This record gives sequence, C-alpha cells and structure tokens, in this order.
Amino acid sequence: MAKETILVLGANGQIGTELVEYLRFEYGNVNVIASDIKAPQEVHGPFEQMDVLDVNRLTELVKDHKVTQIYHLAAMLSATAEQKIMLGWELNMTGLINVLNIAVECKVKKVFWPSSIAVFGPSTPKLNTPQYCYTDPSTLYGVSKLAGEHWCNYYFNKFGLDVRSIRYPGLIGYKSVPGGGTTDYAVYIFHEALARGSYDCFLEADTMLPMMYMEDAIRGTVELMEAPAEKIKVRTSYNIAGMSFTPGELAIEIRKTMPEFKITYHPDIRQTYADSWPKSIDDSVARKDWGWNPHFNTSKLVGEMMTHCKDLV
Ligand code: SER
Repeated sequence: MAKETILVLGANGQIGTELVEYLRFEYGNVNVIASDIKAPQEVHGPFEQMDVLDVNRLTELVKDHKVTQIYHLAAMLSATAEQKIMLGWELNMTGLINVLNIAVECKVKKVFWPSSIAVFGPSTPKLNTPQYCYTDPSTLYGVSKLAGEHWCNYYFNKFGLDVRSIRYPGLIGYKSVPGGGTTDYAVYIFHEALARGSYDCFLEADTMLPMMYMEDAIRGTVELMEAPAEKIKVRTSYNIAGMSFTPGELAIEIRKTMPEFKITYHPDIRQTYADSWPKSIDDSVARKDWGWNPHFNTSKLVGEMMTHCKDLV
C-alpha cells in the first residue's frame, strides 16, 4: 500500500472522534493528522488546532505534511445552523470550498466530505427515498449540504478531483456525543435511560427517521474511500441506509433490557426538520457501485448502546 498521510478536519466531532481512531489503527498513528478548532481532551497522535476557514494555515498544513487524503467533517448541524444561518452557511460552504481548492492546488489524491439526509425535503418521496429524486431541503443545513454535493461533483468534472461523499442518516454511537442535530435524540436516549431511567424526547413518538450505528458508518466511509476510483459513479453523494425507527419503537426496544424505562414526548422546532426528511432510504446504488452493506439492525444497535453506554455512566 502506498504511504498515505491523512488529514481529518473536525476531528473532535461525533464522526471525527471515531474515524480518527479507525484510520490510525489502519494507517498508523503518525500518518493520521487530526485537526479541530478546539483542543482535544486527550491526544493520541498528531493534532493541529485550526479553523478550516483559515485558508493560509490549512494550505500550509497540507503542503508541509504532504497530505494525500482529506476527510473534511467540520460542519454545523441542522438545529444549530437554523439558529445561526450565516455562520452555518460560512462554515459549511466556505469551509468545503476552501478544502476543494486546496486539494486541487496541492494535488491531494482523495477528499471525503459528508452530506446528509437533510438534502431531501417535503417534495421528496418519504419511503425508500431513491438516489436520484426531487431535493428541496427546508433547513439551512440541508441547503448547504445540497449545494456542497454539487460543488463536489463540479470539482470532479472540472478538475478531476477525486472527491467522494455519503448522505449520512442519523448516526448513533457511544464513543462520542453529537451536538446541534435533530437525530441526536437517538444518542441522548441511551445516556438518559442509563443515568435516570427515563427520557424526555424532543420528537413525537411516531417520527420515523433513517438511522445508522456509528461502526457501520465509519466502516462504510473508509470502504468508499478505499474503493477503486472507477467504481465511484456518483460524485454528488451516495444514499446509504442502516435501519429506520421511531422514538416509540426505540423505547420498546430499550424496555427489552430495561422494562422500567419511561419516555415522554415534548416536540420542539426540531420536529419540523424531522418531518421534512425521509423515513427510509434506498441505498441500492451504493450497494451496486462499491459494495455497501450495513451490519447493524435496530436490536443489535440497542444491545451495543446499552452495554457500552453503561460503562460510561
Ligand atoms: N444528523 C443530522 C442532524 O440531525 C442530519 O444529518 O442534523
């Protein structure tokens, strides 16, 4: 395998925390540079504190370390971006465009950038949402992700930049906590169940959303990045699916190991974001092109979360 130097931007976030660990195991500690605007709690390898909007610093870093791959994860999620729309646009859009330009200038071999189910909107088919369909995002986060997908596709066509992307569903893991998202309830519920035996949910009981266990998401991301370039036919972003459930169904699953668990529902503004998103995703194109295949269903995910979050309480 050719020597790779991988830069992960937004490394302290929900995905970054787990992705860096996975990449370091696979590529070696010193070959994976973690970077974030905030300092990490613990340092396990090379780390650079940096704002992705600082183009000069980012260019220097990529040149100095002869970076061959960038995973650009720094972004503001749906609920936070709705509160700070201009900042959300600046971080999510300008951050991506900086990375794309630097990647072209410095001849970075591959770039990964996450998109989201938030690119879909009220006019999108809700069940088994296809890879190609009407996309009318209703959140600023979704607007930035949809525009970003087209920037990626444009840079692939115009400059031949090998940029790859996945539309993540809600991601659920125990090693990190999300912040500012709508699907976050499905992480908090486990922590609250174990700490308090109850959870007050900000979505309605019957709000079905596509979700995925973090282990699947990380493995899928790296599999996409390691696939031969000719297999990657979609240069906007790939649909991938894991499972779909509602808060009510998740509570029933949790009660199988914790019968006394109680859930209450007080939907807030995030309900409107969730209502505009798909209930389930058709990921047949990703399966066909690069072999995507999830390993976790809802009951396996609940088992893992209840075991591992217990260790954290
Ligand atoms: N998990 C994201 C959010 O809830 C959607 O991609 O904002």
